[in-house]
Amino acid sequence: MQSVNVNGLIFDEYLPEQEIATVVSDVAGRINADYAGREPLFICVLNGAFMYMSDLFKRITLPAEITFVRMKSYEGTATTGNVNMLVPLQTSVKDRDVIIVEDIVDTGLTMHGFIQHLKREGARSVELTSFLFKPDSLQFPDATPKYIGKSIPTKFVLGYGLDYDEKGRNLSSLYVLRQ
Ligand code: IMP
Repeated sequence: MQSVNVNGLIFDEYLPEQEIATVVSDVAGRINADYAGREPLFICVLNGAFMYMSDLFKRITLPAEITFVRMKSYEGTATTGNVNMLVPLQTSVKDRDVIIVEDIVDTGLTMHGFIQHLKREGARSVELTSFLFKPDSLQFPDATPKYIGKSIPTKFVLGYGLDYDEKGRNLSSLYVLRQ
C-alpha cells in the first residue's frame, strides 16, 4: 500500500485517483439529471473543495455558473468549533438554485451556518454536495449532503484538496491517517 509522510504523520492510501474519478462522475450525473432545465450556481468552499470542484464542474453539462467562498474551522486534525468566513460570497444568490460544493462534511457546523446564510440571502433552493461525508461525526442534521461522493468513518483524511495544516492538498489520491 502506498504511504506518505506529511508534517511527520504517516497516511496510507485510501481512495486511488481512478476510484475518485468514478465517484465524481456519479455525482455529476445525478446533478445533471436533477437540474435539467435549470441554471444552478455552484459555490465552491475553499480551500479544500477546489480539486473536487474542478473535476465535478468539467462533468456538468448544464448552463451552470461558479463562485467561491473561503471558510476555516479546523486547526491541525481537529475542529475548532468556530467558523471563519475568510473570503465572503461575491455573487448574489437571490432567486438562484444554489449547489454548495464541499470537500468533506464532518460535524456539519461549517455547512449548517452557511446554508442558513444563503437562505437568508434569498436563494430559491440550496443543496449541498460533498466529496466526503463522515456520518458518525454529524451534529447538524441539516448539513447532510444531498449528493455524497463517499461516506467514510470518523478518521482524518488528506489529499485531493484536503490538508493537514495546509500540506497534502496536491496529492491526487485520498489518504487516511495511520492510527
Ligand atoms: P465541519 O464544520 O465539522 O463539518 O468541518 C468541515 C471542514 O473541516 C471541512 O471543510 C474541512 O476543511 C475540515 N475537515 C474535516 N474533516 C477533515 C479531514 O478528515 N481532513 C481534512 N480536513 C477535514
